[in-house]
Amino acid sequence: MKHLFQTKSLAQLTAEASSQEHGMKRELTAANLIFLGIGAIIGAGIFVLTGEVAANYTGPAIIISFLIAALACACAGLCYAELASMIPVSGSAYTYAYATVGEFFAWIIGWDLIIEYLFAASSVAVGWSGYMVSVLKGFDIHFPEEFSNAPMGYNDITHSFEVTNAGIINLPAMFIVILLTILLVVGVKESARFNNVIVIIKTFVILCFIASGVFYISTANWVPFIPENTGTFGQFGWSGIFRGAAVIFFAYIGFDAVSTAAQEAKNPKRDLPIGILGSLIICTLLYIAVALVITGIVPYPQLGVPDPIAVGVDATGLTWISPMIKLGAVAGLSSVILVLLMGQPRIFYTMSKDGLLPQAFSKIHHRFKTPYVSTIIVGVLAMALSGFFPIGVLSKLVSLGTLLAFAAVCLAILILRKKHPEYPRHFRTPFSPYIPILGIVSCLGVATFLNMYAWITMAVWLSIGLVVYFIYGAKHSKLKQSNN
Ligand code: ALA
Repeated sequence: MKHLFQTKSLAQLTAEASSQEHGMKRELTAANLIFLGIGAIIGAGIFVLTGEVAANYTGPAIIISFLIAALACACAGLCYAELASMIPVSGSAYTYAYATVGEFFAWIIGWDLIIEYLFAASSVAVGWSGYMVSVLKGFDIHFPEEFSNAPMGYNDITHSFEVTNAGIINLPAMFIVILLTILLVVGVKESARFNNVIVIIKTFVILCFIASGVFYISTANWVPFIPENTGTFGQFGWSGIFRGAAVIFFAYIGFDAVSTAAQEAKNPKRDLPIGILGSLIICTLLYIAVALVITGIVPYPQLGVPDPIAVGVDATGLTWISPMIKLGAVAGLSSVILVLLMGQPRIFYTMSKDGLLPQAFSKIHHRFKTPYVSTIIVGVLAMALSGFFPIGVLSKLVSLGTLLAFAAVCLAILILRKKHPEYPRHFRTPFSPYIPILGIVSCLGVATFLNMYAWITMAVWLSIGLVVYFIYGAKHSKLKQSNN
């Protein structure tokens, strides 16, 4: 078992990277990277969760939550950029952990990343369903509520799951997951061009909402800016703002996609931080503007709906803009689901190549050249999750899983700077060790404000991961075999 804490050498990772990803061209400019980031970032967070967070945790003070979450992301983003520029594997926290803290912790991070990708894909699919149902309503097609809602929800006050009267199963959410899984199996490549079109649509829709909504703001809706805590931890007041930051953190997930393009960036040293920080800054500004407008138009208690932006537009009476905004949201959410459903099989693929998961996970389809077994497994699981759980339940787990992974990435910087100060880095996190330390503290600090259910589910999930590792991964590990 001595291989448990053995790390993969950086040279080995780089060699693997060049054999796996041979032929990648350095073509992406800073602007391309910013577009890539925005494409992966803007989704259910802003289109759906803004409403839930404002209605249940923060009121208009959601703006402060957005800023806190952005700070944690910026620190983690700078650390991601350094790792991506020195370990140019199609980057993930799993790989970085393998190089820094060894196989056992890498496995835990990889298992944790399943929560980030798989559960996030399911969450965004639920958001997609909300907007799709709303679009159909515009055409006078009334999709039955019981077939577009999950059968249960989580009550933050009683800390228990409750059967809701609204739903039996969320069929539209399951539909979009199946559709995109099929596309991924037959090998749809999300080209930079397609991504750019979607980014333009998403950004345009958001700007339209801001530009039209700003004239309908009633400042009375912003008072009180920080509603008083109800007596329950996390419901309004400052504990609510921090819980809101933890939940709305979801809205920023995806900027790490920029770092995965380290190998394809023309000038990674300059452009990676521009790409990461640029997309983060643009999204933060858009998010804050949307939050100001939406809480200014609609009294915050009325925002806890599946399509808050659509509700905001309807409240202005500008109903002719409404279909455009809803369709833009549907398009934007689809691309985020696609990216997430594509990312998870890639992580499974790497873990399987390392021997930690069965070989089937890295099986490539002879005709389509896609990791079809992993893609189908991920699709089936995401479909089941999106059909039976509401976005509020899924997205909190995603935020927690990602906050833990981001903290690990910041820690990896501190370890690698000590262990391998000589290794070439095309980009260095500025003000190290302060930025990585601030990243760890802010990610873990924000995570502590998530509710008990998220922590308990995460503990159970990680325990299952440990059992799987010791039954399978620890025995079949390639690293272990290379030692024998
Ligand atoms: N940040 C992505 C979203 O908001 C996951 O949908």
